[in-house]
Amino acid sequence: METNVIKEKISSEKGSCGCLTAADLDPCIIVIFGASGDLTARKLIPALYHMYLTGSLPEPVAIVGCARTPFSGDEFRSRMKEACAGNGKSDMSPWPEFAALLFYRQLAYDSEKSFRELAAYLDELDRQRGTGGNLIFDLALPPSLYPVVAGMLGRVGLAVQHNDNRGWSRIVVEKPFGRDLDSALDLDRTLHEHFQEEQIFRIDHYLAKETVQNILMFRFANAIFEPIWNRGFIDYVGIMAAEKLGVENRAGYYEQAGVIRDMFQNHMLQLLSLIAMEPPSHFASERVRDEKAKLFRSIRPFSRREGEVVLGQYGPGLLDGKEVRGYRQEPGVAADSLIPTFALMRFYVENWRWQGVPFWLVSGKRMAGKQTRIIIQFKEVPHSIFRDVLGEKVVPNRLVLGIYPEEGISLTFQTKNPGPRVCLRPMTMDFRYDTSPLLDAYEKVLLDCILGDHLLFWRQDGIEQTWRILTPILNECEHCQGRAQQLYPYPAGSWGPEAAREQVDKIRDRREVKSAP
Ligand code: BG6
Repeated sequence: METNVIKEKISSEKGSCGCLTAADLDPCIIVIFGASGDLTARKLIPALYHMYLTGSLPEPVAIVGCARTPFSGDEFRSRMKEACAGNGKSDMSPWPEFAALLFYRQLAYDSEKSFRELAAYLDELDRQRGTGGNLIFDLALPPSLYPVVAGMLGRVGLAVQHNDNRGWSRIVVEKPFGRDLDSALDLDRTLHEHFQEEQIFRIDHYLAKETVQNILMFRFANAIFEPIWNRGFIDYVGIMAAEKLGVENRAGYYEQAGVIRDMFQNHMLQLLSLIAMEPPSHFASERVRDEKAKLFRSIRPFSRREGEVVLGQYGPGLLDGKEVRGYRQEPGVAADSLIPTFALMRFYVENWRWQGVPFWLVSGKRMAGKQTRIIIQFKEVPHSIFRDVLGEKVVPNRLVLGIYPEEGISLTFQTKNPGPRVCLRPMTMDFRYDTSPLLDAYEKVLLDCILGDHLLFWRQDGIEQTWRILTPILNECEHCQGRAQQLYPYPAGSWGPEAAREQVDKIRDRREVKSAP
């Protein structure tokens, strides 16, 4: 579907508060490759079930799980039921109606015969269910299988995009989109052998988080912040994604990736682009993604010597009072691994708006808390009229966009402390999201894919730009002489290596100010 059609659809469905209330979604078949895996059970099927419960799935719809494992349809449905019931939050009474939409096909990813049989099966299912020939292929698979599956879909005619209302075909891929610029280009070439760009949906689940989407609304639907959103008023920007989780059972992937590929190439740089981009002319996918690409082009790639980069790796430590092992002791991790699990990096955006303003990005695993937030630190007042009276520094304003655990926006400013004495106290004005129900990131992603809206998905030029920025640092970190000495250890359950602590403390703000009672 073309972007202008989506926009029309959305504008004709505005509720009284200017919201998209319910969309007229095209019927479709959603095919999940990797249906016996973790992502399907943890995220995809629970998201689809929740969409069913809230009436946001198209009608008619069918969901076909595909994997190598020889499940019967009933076995697949009962595993998925367990997965959906697992969180204890979902109402399971309508499960039987949802289960009737679920199907399973065993297949071999490298067998053209399997895919021909799948094509015939989907054709028949489409006829029975009336799904209009519309197909979504979600690749919940290791990236090494993306080219294999995309190629097979192309060869058996499942990648064909009909332009005459006889149905569309879309492919959904998850990061990592390559491991450097060259491999990202290779992956893109393979996808484009069979799919056109408008058929490809590259997921970044951070973009689908409610509070992340809110950044654009906050910046561009309010007139008061944009005039001060620049180097004249902002001292620095801090973006933090700290996690308590370690590498879990993903050592195979993480040993190849490390924190820069896992978090910076995608989520962290997306957050930076939303904060720093220029206003797009319309809230439409291509316009927004044009501005992001422009922003990525303005970030100067830097080497480790020129920029500030601190890399770290967690060792054994105490997390919530419990002993946890270090990264090198995790199953599947090499005993002498030099893969970073923490990084602090300072970026500069080279344009008129941001010249000289540092963007500090920090992310790490096994840190003392899960905290995802963006801080806009404003400058001090240019001249303090209180200096003679109070002899104290006036604490500058700070805006915090909380993504996790506080989902909301806080603005800190100075007020007079009530009472006979003249003294200032910083106060925080808080907006919290947590009272309203939030749409899970995967629900939003699937919904937008059904709508054909690319706004929350990566475009290939953005991917190439982010690799262009990060590849020099990756090369330097991975091939330099003193690699081991430049990887700072930090105990699990801490806020990262000592070498990064001052900056990390500033971003997480231990002086957190409380709201007025
Ligand atoms: C994923 C990374 O993309 O994001 C994981 O691969 C990381 O390593 C996760 O744990 C963090 O996501 P969230 O939504 O929990 O902040």
